[in-house]
Amino acid sequence: MDTKLFILKDYKENGHILDKDSMMINEAATIIRKGGLVAFPTETVYGLGGNALVKESALKIYKAKGRPQDNPLIVHIGDISALRKIVREVSPEALVLIDRFWPGPMTLIFKKSVIIPYETTGGLETVAVRFPSNPVAQKLITLAKVPIAAPSANLSGHPSATSFRHCVEDLMGKVDAILDGGDSQIGLESTIIDLTEGSPRLLRPGAITLEMLEETLNRKLELDAALMGPLSKETIPKAPGMKYRHYAPQATMVILRSKEDRVDKKLTGEVIRLIDTSKSKYQKLALLCSDECLKALGISDDDVKKGSKVLSDTRLILKAMGSRDDPESIAHDIFEDLRDCDRLGVDFIIAEGYKENGLFGAVMNRLKKAASWQIIDV
Ligand code: TXA
Ligand code: MG
Repeated sequence: MDTKLFILKDYKENGHILDKDSMMINEAATIIRKGGLVAFPTETVYGLGGNALVKESALKIYKAKGRPQDNPLIVHIGDISALRKIVREVSPEALVLIDRFWPGPMTLIFKKSVIIPYETTGGLETVAVRFPSNPVAQKLITLAKVPIAAPSANLSGHPSATSFRHCVEDLMGKVDAILDGGDSQIGLESTIIDLTEGSPRLLRPGAITLEMLEETLNRKLELDAALMGPLSKETIPKAPGMKYRHYAPQATMVILRSKEDRVDKKLTGEVIRLIDTSKSKYQKLALLCSDECLKALGISDDDVKKGSKVLSDTRLILKAMGSRDDPESIAHDIFEDLRDCDRLGVDFIIAEGYKENGLFGAVMNRLKKAASWQIIDV
């Protein structure tokens, strides 16, 4: 299949959608309305979109991604009025969250209405809905005149796509078009909350943090089993996608986390010790850590720019995640860094861990999944 590439030049340069960009988004919207697939930018990660009301489109999405058909898709809307048509009821608590966080990086689960086919929901009676804030995503949905079903625009098992390049790597030849709207602003997928069963339950942490949700609803949220640790065969997670090994790099990965939540000698000492004990077993090692940790290890900005450094007789690939004081920067590059490790043939990754508050809750969730929950507390 030929994949059309739409580069939104003006939008990327100055954030405004001008005539030329509008025409391209309109062409992409027509493709979706007619049953085709388009990868498009959102503020969280890129989505792989198809018409949410048509079962054939949903089936095409599963096929293009190589995704199991029991893993439901998120339905994206371009304005609030579209919600009532696709869900059976909107609870008072849903309204409170919508009022505060939409449009934005939050997905809510509702009971589905009859117009949403079971193919879109992976056979469930419920539907996940998100109203993204990204202007390109909004315009695409509005022009398509239908809600857009979109999982993250990566091949199943790869880290989510957070840039146009990631979409091209994974989906070229498999979809009708890809819209280039620059890098995803957040870089982590949306927060998912289930409101269909009494008390609200967090299924996936994201940029709308647990603290923000609890403050807004003025009560504690339940946490889904999938957030607590590796799932046993008997546990059924609420979000079917959580049972699959997501965000997985090719490499074995271990998280090193300071019990005091700081970069100290204990942490850096353990980094060096782990490199020492792993270098005979693995060919190519990578270190994913905060700017503070790199500095404490004596790694200069120049080494970081070069992307590698010899430490403890081993050439290490370096990935500077950002400052511990700036969780947004740490969240932003995780998937890019994990993809890069794959591209470079890294077979062992040491990643720094963080205390799970605020956005670090979502950061740690993705790191833990990538590391298959291998954590060393020091
Ligand atoms: O930020 C995002 O949410 C991105 C962008 C494109 O919007 N989308 C995304 O979709 O991350 P995906 O398919 O990669 O992840 C959706 C997750 C899956 O784990 C899926 O199982 C869960 O949402 N999900 C979807 N519908 C659900 C439902 N009705 N009940 C429970 N979980 C659901
Ligand atoms: Mg995904």
